[in-house]
Amino acid sequence: MSSHTAEDVNRAWWKEAVVYQIYPRSFNDSDGDGIGDIPGIVEKLDYLDELGIDVVWLNPVYESPNADNGYDIADYRAIMDEFGTMDDWEELLAGLHERDIRLIMDLVVNHTSDEHEWFRKSRESTDSDYRDYYIWRRGRTDVDGWTGHKGPEGEAPPNEWESFFGGPAWEYDEATGEWYLHLFDVKQPDLNWENPEVRDEVFDMMEWWLEKGIDGFRMDVINLVSKPESVTAHDPPTNDSDLGGTIDGPRIHEYMREMNDRVLAGRDLLTVGEMIGDGMPIDEARTYVGEDGDGLSMLFHFEHVLLDRAGRIWETAEWDLTDLKGVFSKWQYGLAEDGWNSLYLGNHDQPRIVSRFGDDGEYRRESAKLLGTLLHTLQGTPYVYQGEELGITNCPFESLDEFRDVETLNPVRSALDGGEIDSFEEVKEGLWANSRDNARTPMQWTGGENAGFTDGEPWIKVNPNCREVNVEAARADADSVWHYYRDLIRLRKEYDVIVYGDYDLLLSDHEKIWAYTRTLGDERLLVALNFSSEEAAFDLPDRVDADRDAAELLIGNYGDAGTDVESFTLRPWEARVYYLTEGHAA
Ligand code: NOJ
Repeated sequence: MSSHTAEDVNRAWWKEAVVYQIYPRSFNDSDGDGIGDIPGIVEKLDYLDELGIDVVWLNPVYESPNADNGYDIADYRAIMDEFGTMDDWEELLAGLHERDIRLIMDLVVNHTSDEHEWFRKSRESTDSDYRDYYIWRRGRTDVDGWTGHKGPEGEAPPNEWESFFGGPAWEYDEATGEWYLHLFDVKQPDLNWENPEVRDEVFDMMEWWLEKGIDGFRMDVINLVSKPESVTAHDPPTNDSDLGGTIDGPRIHEYMREMNDRVLAGRDLLTVGEMIGDGMPIDEARTYVGEDGDGLSMLFHFEHVLLDRAGRIWETAEWDLTDLKGVFSKWQYGLAEDGWNSLYLGNHDQPRIVSRFGDDGEYRRESAKLLGTLLHTLQGTPYVYQGEELGITNCPFESLDEFRDVETLNPVRSALDGGEIDSFEEVKEGLWANSRDNARTPMQWTGGENAGFTDGEPWIKVNPNCREVNVEAARADADSVWHYYRDLIRLRKEYDVIVYGDYDLLLSDHEKIWAYTRTLGDERLLVALNFSSEEAAFDLPDRVDADRDAAELLIGNYGDAGTDVESFTLRPWEARVYYLTEGHAA
């Protein structure tokens, strides 16, 4: 392992930044319709500033019929009515920039809404100028006994791909007698990136937003846009039951480089590609984010958030701390010399982090702080999902009617219809653990009605724990998760070693403790995290070369940690970060 010094690191503003993710529908409602909106975010700009974050990633706010809460876009250049107007959006951008906060927008270009003008024209006839904007194929007639889906008698979908939201990934369209591909909901037809006109449209649209002054893009499922040859070169497709060929498909790097050459290069942006799949090789990752790669700043991989997944949305798998350490360490070491990591534990598609990786009962506060410590002291750019800074937990939804998300509703309804399950009760606990709606409950501003989110009827259930867990209470309590996050964010700005230091894992097989050092030149940090509700003894391995007598506690989630770093006992969910170098100035 080579070790970097403060002089030889490759600096960038987006490496030093902390990103805060806003899911607008659930952030703050300004007009009492029960749905969060852009003026509602503007009202909270000082809140974001006081937390200290540097960038906002805004989930989609474009015109959309909301089959998938804005990820089904009907017009890329218009703001959804429920969220406000383009003037409101301009005010948001200006208000952020006034506070030195940058804005990155969600770029959703694997698919559009079926209500997008391109698709409406595409489906009109096989001769439409827009036909090839999407992926239309003939059904298969050589499949015996197909009874599953809407096609004509005896005709099966073009291939066997399942959509990510359940059911076949193809929909039959009566008007022209062909099927269109939708890797997500039936209302989200996939764009055909093989068509150069589609790429022109996408790149023009990106340019249009950049000219408005935004600071980058989060790119939705961007590694799905190149479809495999079985589909692109054949009609009907050749037999290919493996959706895997769609992930990092054959022309993906060609498309990403074209995007870079035509739009991104020469601009100082934060770009982060969401990369679906499990187990991306580091070489592949470097092709996206490395020095000689496609030009992305960083990517979101899914390896840690798939550890507890077992297939169906209500099924969970056992994971242990060594798995989690293994995934993060692979990426920490893997991109240390070339590339850069994004760091996230939760987002709008994942359950709340304290319920998933921590203890949302007795040690909610401690474990939320411990997870925050991890997020902010690994090498990479941290992404804080709204409400995480309060330690919001998963929500006890009481019936299927309380859920709103297609990824939950589609498979549960079809399992109920098909008799695979008998009742909601059977899958309730699994949904409590896994459903995306856990993350989409309203932001908890106060302990009052509807958590201060809206004066109207909220579009989704409010988590009942808002009475104790809310911004107002957290800000009044110096020991809250909120204040701790604020300190972590501040520390990253004070210590280069937190941003740029090399990561080195200690005690890799320990089942309770995750410990590592971060080193930059002669500066060294020691991070020790107890991922359990019991005490755990920590012994500093001999190989750690440090001035053991000079240790200072930089931050910890128990007030009274000592400074003997040689060996100490970590209390339940205790997190400690020591600065090991003598004579630092803080
Ligand atoms: C990933 C987004 O984060 C998710 O919310 C969405 O459902 C899918 N992509 C499809 O756009």
